[in-house]
Amino acid sequence: MLDVMKLAVAIGAFAASATASAVAGAVDLRGGYGYGYGYGHGHGGGGHGNKTCKHKPLVNSKALQASIRAPALLNGSQTLLNFAYSYPDRNRLMGGGGHNATVKYLVSQLEALDGYYTVELQPFSAVVHAGATFSLFIDGANTSAGVFDYTGSGDVTGTLVVVANQGCELTDYPSTLSGNIALIQRGACEFGLKSAYAGASGAKGALIYNNIPGGLDGTLGVPPRPEGDYVPTLGLSQDQGAELVASIAAGTTHNATLIVDAQVENRTTHNVLATSNCGALNTTLMLGAHTDSVAAGPGINDDGSGTIGILEVAKHLAKYRVNNAVRFGFWSGEEEGDLGSNHYVDSLSPAGLADIRAYLNFDMIASPNFIHAIYDGDGSSFNESGPAGSGEIEKFFEEYFVSAGENFTATAFDGRSDYAPFIENGIPAGGTFTGAEQIKTAEEALQFGGTAGEPTDANYHGPGDTVDNLDVGAFVLHAKGIAASVAKYATSFESLPPKGLKKRSVAGGVGRKRRAGKKGRKTAI
Ligand SMILES: *[C@@H]1O[C@H](CO)[C@@H](O)[C@H](O)[C@H]1NC(C)=O
Ligand SMILES: *[C@@H]1O[C@H](CO)[C@@H](O)[C@H](O)[C@H]1NC(C)=O
Ligand SMILES: *[C@@H]1O[C@H](CO)[C@@H](O)[C@H](O)[C@H]1NC(C)=O
Ligand SMILES: *[C@@H]1O[C@H](CO)[C@@H](O)[C@H](O)[C@H]1NC(C)=O
Ligand SMILES: *[C@@H]1O[C@H](CO)[C@@H](O)[C@H](O)[C@H]1NC(C)=O
Ligand SMILES: *[C@@H]1O[C@H](CO)[C@@H](O)[C@H](O)[C@H]1NC(C)=O
Ligand SMILES: *[C@@H]1O[C@H](CO)[C@@H](O)[C@H](O)[C@H]1NC(C)=O
Ligand SMILES: *[C@@H]1O[C@H](CO)[C@@H](O)[C@H](O)[C@H]1NC(C)=O
Ligand SMILES: *[C@@H]1O[C@H](CO)[C@@H](O)[C@H](O)[C@H]1NC(C)=O
Ligand SMILES: [Zn+2]
Repeated sequence: MLDVMKLAVAIGAFAASATASAVAGAVDLRGGYGYGYGYGHGHGGGGHGNKTCKHKPLVNSKALQASIRAPALLNGSQTLLNFAYSYPDRNRLMGGGGHNATVKYLVSQLEALDGYYTVELQPFSAVVHAGATFSLFIDGANTSAGVFDYTGSGDVTGTLVVVANQGCELTDYPSTLSGNIALIQRGACEFGLKSAYAGASGAKGALIYNNIPGGLDGTLGVPPRPEGDYVPTLGLSQDQGAELVASIAAGTTHNATLIVDAQVENRTTHNVLATSNCGALNTTLMLGAHTDSVAAGPGINDDGSGTIGILEVAKHLAKYRVNNAVRFGFWSGEEEGDLGSNHYVDSLSPAGLADIRAYLNFDMIASPNFIHAIYDGDGSSFNESGPAGSGEIEKFFEEYFVSAGENFTATAFDGRSDYAPFIENGIPAGGTFTGAEQIKTAEEALQFGGTAGEPTDANYHGPGDTVDNLDVGAFVLHAKGIAASVAKYATSFESLPPKGLKKRSVAGGVGRKRRAGKKGRKTAI
């Protein structure tokens, strides 16, 4: 699940990734990867035929659900944790050792199913912030600070120069900044714009101070950006900033030294796509979960749980025949801004896109202080509905929780996971979610148990996102829900509105309008 801070810079981030993607795609074709997508992804009728499933029984919801069990879910989760801990970074950040091992594991698991699936690796590249060490000295004193993702690196010293207003215009940056350090207030525009403008004005580094109580870190957004390169950039608290600004206004000179060593790397990574060789491709059900973690932890709930949940369903589905093809998308680069899912959707032809009749997303389904949330397909809770059909999918999951004797609630389509490019392209979407950083309300504690006033996942994007901190009951319930939804839609899409060719809003799919959550936009700058 994407950090709200990263959501705000998504527009910039996506523009950069789209460029990189286009290049990577062209290289692949020349390199003759020959995945046979034609990026129409098998469009053209009934397609695959029945060679691997003709004699199998039609998928049955009860039986498929019954095959989903806790030991296998936990074994898969432990396997992912072991991958993370096999490397010094102890994470599964996109394109790193722990993540590459995850991708390899998924391919081998899916290929071990007697050819039930056609398994494809779809490459793309993007710039990631893999970590940073840093120190800040003000007037020679070691001072506490935060660091921004994608910061420039270096050991720089200079006089602190206050930037006018909130530093959102180049003219806010005085000429005296040249060779010095910019002191900039948070607010009104992206952190990344401020760092780039500071650099463009000749500053050697930048300190951005908070406009609300507390310290400050966040992300500058994936480089490159047109305004220029990022300089070493650290965050200060509101109090630290106010004190320095007042002192400088009173005529005191202050100097600062920023020592920043950031690992900002252009990494190549892969989506894993597994499409059943059974069922009609022109009515494909697609499911997705993301394979990458943030740098700060191993990502076992986020989103090892969704990854293993859909993998287990994929494995057990192989015992059955389906009427509609089922494609599992294991996305990379979700934590960097839904990069893999966007790359995949951008790679599809309009016909290939239209073949996807529904997309189901599972990102965090075993949160320790869980809620049972369903994407708000009909917009009844958050006033932001998904494409036609999303309401029916939400209703399906509501009925699933009712039949399981559990309460449920709704979660917004706010752009913080891989459904975003699908709903932007008119594909009905849905799925379930057990909570990230949001605080459990008293009402939710009555509905789901657990602790009100605590985050639904206290280990969200942290080192504690491990197997020990999964809620196994929630994990099993939601994974069985995945099984139920696959059984339903792999059999029939009757309950959804009829298929229609969806139009891309912009030819080629690059530069589409993004729906970013209002909440995310506010906290992003
Ligand atoms: C899918 O393709 C089959 C075989 O060509 C065709 O009979 C059917 O009408 C198509 N279905 C849709 C929804 O396009
Ligand atoms: C698959 O088999 C079913 C009967 O088992 C048949 O009705 C259907 O047409 C077959 N589909 C293809 C694409 O061969
Ligand atoms: C998962 O199960 C397999 C097969 O039983 C076993 O070989 C493997 O060691 C288990 N992995 C973990 C991490 O428990
Ligand atoms: C991960 O895989 C990518 C793509 O194949 C490769 O470029 C990269 O070197 C690998 N990284 C590690 C740490 O193995
Ligand atoms: C920075 O300030 C400290 C403390 O006033 C001083 O000792 C040091 O010489 C200054 N450094 C520079 C480069 O001005
Ligand atoms: C500055 O202080 C922090 C913690 O207070 C410490 O981890 C860091 O090593 C110090 N930096 C230097 C260069 O002394
Ligand atoms: C990252 O590397 C890929 C593959 O080498 C290249 O095509 C792409 O342009 C690079 N991206 C950036 C932003 O440097
Ligand atoms: C719901 O959203 C629409 C626009 O998408 C807006 O016109 C309407 O006022 C909103 N309703 C509420 C109750 O917020
Ligand atoms: C569902 O929520 C109600 C409160 O709204 C609560 O009384 C009930 O126990 C909950 N049911 C379950 C199965 O947790
Ligand atoms: Zn996440």
